[in-house]
Amino acid sequence: MHPSERDFAKLLDFYNIKYLYEPRSFPLRWDGQRVVEMFSPDFYLPAQDQYFELTTMKQTLVTQKNRKLRHLRELYPEINIQLLYRRDIMRLLAKYGYGLLADAEVKGIERAMFTAEQVQQRVQELGEQITQEYQAQEIVLVGVLRGVVCFMADLMRRIDLPLAIDFIEISHYGADSGEEVSVTKDVEISLEGRPVILVEDIVDTGMTLQFLLRHLWAKQPSSVAICTLLDKQVRRINDVPLQYVGFEIPDEFVVGYGLDYQGLYRNLPYIGVLKPVEPKFEPQR
Ligand code: IMP
Ligand code: MG
Repeated sequence: MHPSERDFAKLLDFYNIKYLYEPRSFPLRWDGQRVVEMFSPDFYLPAQDQYFELTTMKQTLVTQKNRKLRHLRELYPEINIQLLYRRDIMRLLAKYGYGLLADAEVKGIERAMFTAEQVQQRVQELGEQITQEYQAQEIVLVGVLRGVVCFMADLMRRIDLPLAIDFIEISHYGADSGEEVSVTKDVEISLEGRPVILVEDIVDTGMTLQFLLRHLWAKQPSSVAICTLLDKQVRRINDVPLQYVGFEIPDEFVVGYGLDYQGLYRNLPYIGVLKPVEPKFEPQR
């Protein structure tokens, strides 16, 4: 494996996501009966039925690889494959304060993505939707610490139902907390037989969510729905259906309204885009 591949594999291991390394070769071109070109994606995630191809190459070679990938998709339309650049992996790791980009200099907030008013408006709509869809049921909101504090505080006040709240916190990749994700603060009230809404600040790869869902279902709630303020759909690795989404956002690092970068910016009343000065990557090979 290349260093980037190893970094990706370690991250998957942390979240207990099963993968196979280069499990299958797809013939792309034939000369008569003879296969003259093949493509072997780097990773396959069986539970997600998703292939990943990692590239650390120069832009000209990436173009070639893209062409190969397009060809692969034409010949095998049933397979799901995603291309990850070295920068994608570095960003993935930087989120956990790890890897090259973790030390990137931060220039501050570039711009607001959603103003405080826009956030409040959307939170109110979500609260009304939840109120309607759960009618007279007694629900439990479970917030994922710590990014969720602002959203949770506002959302609960927009829900007109009898409700209880609790919080859960889990360890993060790269912290000195071990090889595998674990619960560092568990839910304390009983969830048995109760409708639960898991409240998240942002869903990015979805790896945290997969772990949390498995953990919550073990407590035998009657249902579990997910309500997230932000959804970075383009970065999804582990796909999970999200019932309530505040905003779908592009692949940019956002802070404020509870969201942090290395512990800071949570107290901004709006959601802003952080502009890190990313070092240029030396293409490998
Ligand atoms: P996932 O497991 O990749 O879905 O990670 C979700 C977690 O990553 C969130 O709960 C956040 O703590 C963090 N995260 C992901 N994207 C951002 C961002 O743009 N700003 C701040 N935190 C983020
Ligand atoms: Mg979080």
